[in-house]
Amino acid sequence: MEFSVKSGAPEKQRSSCLIVGVFEARKLSDAAETIDKASDGHLSAITRRGDMEGELGDTLLIHGVPNIQAERVLLVGLGKEREFDLNALNKATTAAVKALHYRGTTECVSHLTEIDIKGVDFEQILRQSVLAIDAAVYRFDQFKSTPEPGPRRPLRKVTFITPSRRGLLEAENHVREAMAISSGIHLTKNLANLPPNLCTPTALADQARKLMETHPHLAVEVLDQSRMEALGMNALLAVAKGSTEAPKFIIMEHMGGRDDEEPIVLVGKGVTFDTGGISLKPGLDMDQMKYDMAGAAAVIGLISIVAELKLPINVVGLVPTVENMPDGNALKPGDIIKSMSGQTIEVLNTDAEGRLILCDALTYAKRFKPDVVIDMATLTGACVIALGRVPSGLFSNTRALAQEITKAGEISQDRVWELPLWDEYQPQLKSNFADMANIGGREGGALTAAAFLSRFTKDYRWAHLDIAGTAWVTGDNKGATGRPVALLSEFLLKRARANAQSQIK
Ligand code: BES
Ligand code: MN
Ligand code: ZN
Repeated sequence: MEFSVKSGAPEKQRSSCLIVGVFEARKLSDAAETIDKASDGHLSAITRRGDMEGELGDTLLIHGVPNIQAERVLLVGLGKEREFDLNALNKATTAAVKALHYRGTTECVSHLTEIDIKGVDFEQILRQSVLAIDAAVYRFDQFKSTPEPGPRRPLRKVTFITPSRRGLLEAENHVREAMAISSGIHLTKNLANLPPNLCTPTALADQARKLMETHPHLAVEVLDQSRMEALGMNALLAVAKGSTEAPKFIIMEHMGGRDDEEPIVLVGKGVTFDTGGISLKPGLDMDQMKYDMAGAAAVIGLISIVAELKLPINVVGLVPTVENMPDGNALKPGDIIKSMSGQTIEVLNTDAEGRLILCDALTYAKRFKPDVVIDMATLTGACVIALGRVPSGLFSNTRALAQEITKAGEISQDRVWELPLWDEYQPQLKSNFADMANIGGREGGALTAAAFLSRFTKDYRWAHLDIAGTAWVTGDNKGATGRPVALLSEFLLKRARANAQSQIK
């Protein structure tokens, strides 16, 4: 989708469709009010008849509004005025775009961005609008031989109206950033939605390398099995043993900050398919385990965003990627492996494979002398039981980092909820034969998984995001969400801004 911004009065907009809002109890927004006045009460006559009550997400398309330049007006319900927040703006914007996408308009002008939301920066209003619109028209139908019937004339361009008191240049910049974030989310969703026969570790590595074509300043390197053997990444390699797909370790570097600046290291779990291995998963819904590389897809998407925006920070993306399969060479329950850190692990369940590939990646992260390390992983079903599908689970060994991520989640509407990383959970990982077991029993499964990872992250500030409940949705709209790319984009943009500021001083 193409986006632009401008300011101006609603009745003067030359457009095939003008989007204006109506609050509950038929209260017209400012833009709707202006059009109502210009058209001698055309809109209020319609709301008075009860065709638009202002319920959040309701839409009504009106033709022939007199005395305005636009061909049509789309009324969108905004819900209760006092409750209007980013979430409501999102819902209203999504509804508006869905209503138009299936009609004859290829271009529209939205006044919804003019509405003030208390405590919310204009930057976020524009960003959320861009993300909501791109998400509303997203499809993944490349494998259908006849694409599902869609809009004959899809919406191509949306112009957001900027209140005149806001700078247009700044608004344009916000939209440019939002579009970069949106295309990163798009990439993440597309990678995650790919079927597991195509989205192999090798394919992920190729995708990462492809980023270098559009962003020549990126350095992408891929370690193959022999390089990983030399490094002692035996935990990662143990998971890969049962598969005929070659494991890969992807390293992406964006060095936009000062040379001596410690980087932010992002780590993404890249299990391109998780059968459970010898501890085989039950068959029901196993197809969803193609999403077990959603963390990897998010890291690749995030690197594409920092590269596109040339953010003045140093960011490293690490993606350990394997397929978890059962066969004659596969890892077995009872096997003891020596991780890259030197610590030994007794594998009691081969389905707890994510932590095995992550622990070696987290050890590898040390060589970058990171400022912080953030990993994202579809790590545990237990996290979905604990938190449902609303927030991602957050764990951190550093208070300030947890707070920074929590705040970024609230601002971006891609929320997290912190869970404890307490020493009291460590005894659950006790093994009689090795330094630790790879599972901690039924109780607190998300917490013992994080406790396991914490044994490999003692040397730096670290946060872990369990995205098992948030990386994709199930049911009729089954598909990747692109989370937590919006969350971490906000985190990275804030860091970049702080950097830019400290360099001026
Ligand atoms: N990839 C799964 C976690 C998962 C399961 C994510 C379902 C989303 C939905 C992970 O590798 C796994 O299998 N974890 C096990 C751990 C257990 C064996 C300790 C789990 O959650 O059951
Ligand atoms: Mn598993
Ligand atoms: Zn897994």
